[in-house]
Amino acid sequence: MPRPEKLLLVCVNERPPERKESCGTCHNSEAIGKAFRRYLKQHDLNKRFRSTTTKCLGVCVGGPHAVVMPDNVWYAGFGEEDIEEIVESHLLGGVPVERLLAPNLEENHG
Ligand code: FES
Repeated sequence: MPRPEKLLLVCVNERPPERKESCGTCHNSEAIGKAFRRYLKQHDLNKRFRSTTTKCLGVCVGGPHAVVMPDNVWYAGFGEEDIEEIVESHLLGGVPVERLLAPNLEENHG
């Protein structure tokens, strides 16, 4: 199987909310990750692009978080309603969706 042109990693990490915010527990990211995979398959893009889930990406607050590689473009606070725009604009068009870009990661650590 050829390598995908781009890989979208969606954090689905879960932890008790009283410990710290997490994408899986607080932002329903498992469902969003599934919706990304479904969208790519439905549009016959799943050979060019791959979406998969991952554990904590280290930023946590304001999620869900995802990163598109090899572009190293980070998204935060997106939902299922944003999938089409991310795929069409960024994966296919090469233009990241500005309004969904993660803020400076240094500010989110902690
Ligand atoms: S829990 Fe998703 S980035 Fe940490």
